[in-house]
Amino acid sequence: MTNSNDTTAANEGHGLTPAEVEVRLIDTVTASFAQATDERLKELLTSLVRHLHGFIRDVRLTEAEWNAAIEFLTKVGDITDDQRQEFILLSDVLGASMQTINVSNQPYKNATEATVFGPFFVDDAPLIDNGGDIAGGGTGQPCWVEGVVRDTDDNPIPGARIEVWEADEEGLYDVQHEDDRVYGRAHLFAEDDGSFRFWGLTPTPYPIPDDGPVGQMLKAVGRSPMRASHLHFMVTAPRMRTLVTHIFVEGDELLTSDTVFGVKESLIKNFEQQPADAPKPDGRDLEGQTWSRTRFDIVLAPEGA
Ligand code: BEZ
Ligand code: FE
Repeated sequence: MTNSNDTTAANEGHGLTPAEVEVRLIDTVTASFAQATDERLKELLTSLVRHLHGFIRDVRLTEAEWNAAIEFLTKVGDITDDQRQEFILLSDVLGASMQTINVSNQPYKNATEATVFGPFFVDDAPLIDNGGDIAGGGTGQPCWVEGVVRDTDDNPIPGARIEVWEADEEGLYDVQHEDDRVYGRAHLFAEDDGSFRFWGLTPTPYPIPDDGPVGQMLKAVGRSPMRASHLHFMVTAPRMRTLVTHIFVEGDELLTSDTVFGVKESLIKNFEQQPADAPKPDGRDLEGQTWSRTRFDIVLAPEGA
């Protein structure tokens, strides 16, 4: 019988083939979690060890490669602080964030699909009225965004809270500047009929922060750090599943190579370009600028769906 505390058993290897020694180590390590009282923790660690050892055996990992991986992760930790979360970036570019979202947000009827959160949301974005402007001085082409928030039975969800955030035309979020300027973000509430509308900026492509170890990894494999153009949403309402998503710009050439694998077909929207003289939905004077408009109807799944 394997004793969960007996870590020497796997090292002896008497009479065992190398493959048997490897398998026995996996068994010994997973058995070491036997006393865990948190069943979920036990399940997570057991599976993690199985997959990790599976990977090591699969690629016949060398000690030098394992040391390089540890050095890489150390650099990821070193650059991470309150402003910069390199571990999330790593999870994003490996598709782990997107896969966790896929697993945690199973499709439910016609509910709007979720995608990655990203690191640039802030909690206390300004409140705007419907029809207000989230640009807040951020530069870019004005974009009119409108839609309705409904449940999967087509009932409007009055008062749904809609958080929106985006980069400016330089590809930078406000929080990427040293000072505490606020632009390109706001929250608003759906009207009694579930409708919402606001002015934002036509999304443009931008690179994820690539001056750290994750950027070096992307370079090493010849991958671009660019994200497809997008506008972030987080929509919450009582008794509904929180939706974290973006909308993407139809025709953007980065749609098939988004570096965090966040694009879903259903989230690609027509951002219809408008000439400067096209009448604005709210009569706003855009001082001769061209603009764009798009529609995003949002369907929330019930909580626990
Ligand atoms: C973003 O869309 O803001 C984002 C997502 C993942 C990594 C970096 C940025
Ligand atoms: Fe973004």
